[in-house]
Amino acid sequence: MARKIIIDTDPGQDDAVAILLALASPELDVLGITAVAGNVPLALTEKNARKVCELAGRPDMIVFAGAVRPLVRKLVTAEYVHGKTGLDGPDLPEPTMQLQEQHAVDFIIETLMREESGTVTLCPLGPLTNIALALIREPRIAPRIQQIVFMGGGFFEGGNTTPAAEFNIYVDPHAADVVLKSGIPTVIMPLDVTHKALTTRSRVDLFRRMGTKVGDATVALLEFFERFDEEKYGTDGGPLHDPCVIAYLLKPDLFKGRTVNVEIETGAELTMGMTVVDWWGVTQRPRNATVMRDIDADGFFALLAERLARL
Ligand code: BDR
Ligand code: CA
Repeated sequence: MARKIIIDTDPGQDDAVAILLALASPELDVLGITAVAGNVPLALTEKNARKVCELAGRPDMIVFAGAVRPLVRKLVTAEYVHGKTGLDGPDLPEPTMQLQEQHAVDFIIETLMREESGTVTLCPLGPLTNIALALIREPRIAPRIQQIVFMGGGFFEGGNTTPAAEFNIYVDPHAADVVLKSGIPTVIMPLDVTHKALTTRSRVDLFRRMGTKVGDATVALLEFFERFDEEKYGTDGGPLHDPCVIAYLLKPDLFKGRTVNVEIETGAELTMGMTVVDWWGVTQRPRNATVMRDIDADGFFALLAERLARL
């Protein structure tokens, strides 16, 4: 039976590729997509999510809008990376599928209370605001969640938004703190792993060679997205963050990590949103997350290419 997931996202070119990968994979049953404010404001992320569903040929997918801003702090966006629309690059048509009326947080709660306990996995690809709000509003969902696999944080690589913090955690550190203290089995894809998943020219060519609408759109997404990081890091290609979450569900063996304690800095401005990872077990704090550090990057891109070719 296909594994049931909810994708919580702020598309975002890399979010878009993650959604395409999930919708192309029969092992996954995407129950719904919930949008959150992050890379760009909510009105754009929810629209972008619908554009991507239509690109994947899935106008029947249900998309919900969630939180317009983080729990405590002001919204910080990243148009300088993702462009004005959040999905700059390909020329995707305005979506015709409707946004669901229900609030994303209500959808998450209702779905978890309805489905058999322990059968739904949450896949957050943006700030964790919607997930934290759901946990605060209905704490009974926590033991019903099979797993949370999210992209966020960075320890060995440091931050990409401040020297200490990665974007998703920096935007809503208080939400990340709620999630990491929830006791839910959690897997984290931090920058330490995503910085090894580079969209090198030969890997982007895998999508170019498809000669399909999805292949061409993926090339346009990746070529726009990588330009900023290529300049910043001086690499061939940029890190493809969010699809790591979905790839982990499909092929966990592509990744290696450790189950350790992770805490979030929410007090000090200098290190706000830092993911403090006890990699060496120097504290007695509970091991609350599996933190990935290594990836078989060629295997990851081969999986992506094989799946996206099906759309
Ligand atoms: C994360 O931030 C966003 O810009 C990307 O979509 C990804 O989720 C990387 O730090
Ligand atoms: Ca994202």
